[in-house]
Formats: sequence, C-alpha cells, structure tokens
Amino acid sequence: MPHAALEVSAAGIEFQNPLLLAAGTAAYGRELAGVLDIESLGGLVTKAVSVERRDGAQSPRVAEFAGGMINAVGLANPGMEEVRSDHLPWLEQNLRRAKVLVNVVGNSVEDYAAVIARLDDSPAVSGYELNVSCPNVRAGGVEFGADPGTLAEVVTRSRAATRKPIFVKLSPALPDIGQSAKTAADAGADGISVVNTMPGLVIDVETRRPVLGFGSGGVSGAGLLPVGVLATHKVARAVRLPIIGVGGVSTATDLVQYLMAGASLVAIGTAVMQRPRLPEKLVADLSEWCSGHGVRSVGELKGALSWES
Ligand SMILES: Cc1cc2nc3c(=O)[nH]c(=O)nc-3n(C[C@H](O)[C@H](O)[C@H](O)COP(=O)(O)O)c2cc1C
Repeated sequence: MPHAALEVSAAGIEFQNPLLLAAGTAAYGRELAGVLDIESLGGLVTKAVSVERRDGAQSPRVAEFAGGMINAVGLANPGMEEVRSDHLPWLEQNLRRAKVLVNVVGNSVEDYAAVIARLDDSPAVSGYELNVSCPNVRAGGVEFGADPGTLAEVVTRSRAATRKPIFVKLSPALPDIGQSAKTAADAGADGISVVNTMPGLVIDVETRRPVLGFGSGGVSGAGLLPVGVLATHKVARAVRLPIIGVGGVSTATDLVQYLMAGASLVAIGTAVMQRPRLPEKLVADLSEWCSGHGVRSVGELKGALSWES
C-alpha cells in the first residue's frame, strides 16, 4: 500500500498534514525549534496574544495528576507589540510549510479585533483562533463564549478586522456546544476548535490548599480525550465548518478518533510538553495507520464515525 495522502485543506488554508501544536503549549514556535521539527507538522497555534503584556498567574502554574494535567497560567504573554516585532518575524523567516494560527485573547470584545488588526499584515499569520474561554472583564467576568450575544459580537468584530480565516475555540463546559458553534458560525467564523481545558481543582491534602498558585485551573491531557471527541461530534453535527479537534491526544489512534468524529485537523498540547518529539512521530504513525487500514487519504476518515447519536 502506498503512503496515504495526509494533506488537508481547511478554511482556505492548505496544511501538509492534520497535526497542529495546540495553543499555549508551543509558545511562539522559536522556543521549540531546537527540540522538534515544526516544519514536519501541519502547523502550530501560538500561545495567546493580548493587547497588553500579561504576567500571568502565581506559581505553581502547572501540576500533574493521574488523568492528565491541570494548569492556571493566566494567559501570560508579551502582548501584541512584542509578538509583532519579535515573534512573527522569526516565524516568517523559519517556517515555510507549517502554517501558523495566532491564538487571541481579550479583556473586552474590542480587544480581539485590536490584536487581529495589529498582527494582520504579517505573512507569517495564516489565520486566527479566538480563545473565548476567558472572562470578559467589562461584563462582570462572564466568559465571552458563555453568552451568545457576547460570543457573536466578538466574532463579528474580529471578522471585520481581517480577511484571514478565524477559528473560534470553545470550552467543553458550555451547556450546548453545538449551539455555541452555530452562534459563532452565524457571526462569521470559518472554523471551530474544540476543546479548551475543562475547569478543575486539585487539592494538596497535606496543606489543604489547591496545588496551583491561582487555585482552580484547566484540566488537559489524557482524561480530556473522550470529552473532546464528543464535543467534536456534536459540533460536526451542528455546523458545516472545519473543526480543529483538541484534547488528550497522545497516539495516532487518538488522532484518528478526532478525525472520525468530524475534525479536519487535530492539535496536541499536554503530550508535547511531556514528550517534545512526539508530534513528528504521530505524523509517521498516522501515515502508517492509514496504510495499514487501506485508507488512501486522511480526508476519507473525516466524519467516518458510524453512530447516530
Ligand atoms: C500550559 C497550557 C497553556 C495553555 N494556553 C492556552 C492558550 O494560551 N490559549 C488557548 O486557547 N488554549 C490554551 N491551552 C489549552 C490547549 O490549547 C488545549 O486546548 C488543551 O490543553 C487540551 O489539549 P491537550 O489535552 O492536548 O493539552 C493551554 C493548555 C495548557 C496545558
């Protein structure tokens, strides 16, 4: 059996394979360049970018537990000016084949469009991923993604700031993730990413305090895999947009689950922090899995799940 074709076209972007590095776990690429060959991947989603620099949460920011990891990084980032002057030029010079999506966060609905407008002329940027699982400071701290009106406004304003594709990244804690995806689609999103981390709390029973400096955090890693796969299935049934499946991937068959649930692309986060060279191996393993299963192109796997929920 010849090698399977791994190329994916999603939201108008051509990816050489479906594997992406998930937001926040690969920084801005440069930090991982000596460790892993980013150019062998479909692409990378950057760490969040906000208007102003954010110092982030008190340490410890990350802790492991049996089912995965919990983190409260507080979306620490250098802010859009430094990303524009320092990180995007590096990406432009060093990446040819791997595509870059910039993950965007804000404190208000205006912030998202402001970040996009500032970064949009960089040829390094193929598109954006809006992290709407963070609190809207001006609206009393309710998450952007949790209120349909606010979600629609963030997407509409972002849409007006660029012609490049916009993915909207949703939280697995949303009561009806299919409906939220529809709201984002109706407001002009080009794709949906599911899922962000799940809210959680790990307690150190000796000190009787949370293990994380911030207190609660976001759960990622192995335990999130079935959550993300179900969310992908629900979103695929609700909208016709391309989906980035993310959460708990550490093997090629995890990746195939996301594709079968309806994802076009699959991002990997926590497992890369634990095994930095894993993504390259997953591309090879995916190709081998396809060849071994008579799959000529990864596109054949998209939505191949046989289940009427
Ligand atoms: C340390 C850490 C930082 C993260 N930072 C971001 C971020 O900046 N923006 C975002 O949308 N998601 C962020 N995430 C969520 C990941 O992109 C991903 O959705 C989540 O970790 C699930 O995937 P995984 O189980 O493969 O890690 C972060 C996750 C971790 C573990």
